[in-house]
Amino acid sequence: MNNILTIDGPSGVGKGTVARIMAQKLGWNLLDSGAIYRAFALAIDEREIDISDENALVEVANGLDLEFKIQPESQLVSVFLDGEEVSKTLRTQQTGELASRLATVKNIRLALLKRQREFAQPPGLVADGRDMGTVVFVQAPVKIFLTADAAERANRRLKQLQQQGSKGIISQILAEVKARDERDCSRKYSPLKPAKDAVTIDTTELSIDEVIFQVNKLVTNN
Ligand code: DC
Repeated sequence: MNNILTIDGPSGVGKGTVARIMAQKLGWNLLDSGAIYRAFALAIDEREIDISDENALVEVANGLDLEFKIQPESQLVSVFLDGEEVSKTLRTQQTGELASRLATVKNIRLALLKRQREFAQPPGLVADGRDMGTVVFVQAPVKIFLTADAAERANRRLKQLQQQGSKGIISQILAEVKARDERDCSRKYSPLKPAKDAVTIDTTELSIDEVIFQVNKLVTNN
């Protein structure tokens, strides 16, 4: 299956929103690979698995009972772990943090690879994450790498929290964004970096509509 659009980039850059809108526009399937890492982290946390026990971690990764369901009206994806809806719990800072830690382990990444590749079904796939273009879907004909200043990403995260009725402290959010960047970029296996054939778009000064316009142009010109 060759109709694959990969969208990689750091946390808070807006990949999720861009990927969802593009999947809707193209009528393609959507893979939020971060949600797989987050659901795995949640499973580890709930089962109180010792995170230094690699064999136990890989066993959970291999047997993860995970299901994604698209809500027809909003096109938002609901995630079910062991039959229970976890879409909201997945998005917490704590789960993201643990996901980022566990994602540094090579055998965990390998265990979750097949599950991600299964999303490549006709008529096409929009895949968002950190290593979609470099590892998981190297054959994708269009690869996008989104970037934005850390301060701007922290601001976007704060706004998102406020829209959800939560509060946040900008200096703390910025520190978390930077710590996550550092870990995701410096890990040995599948570090966050643009694929050689990716087009990088700096979204610091761009609206979502402007980003979509550029991505859409790249897809339709392909
Ligand atoms: O995109 P996100 O914030 O939901 O991802 C959570 C963490 O999962 C991220 O900090 C690193 C890890 N991750 C990864 O290593 N590879 C991916 N393709 C997606 C996410």
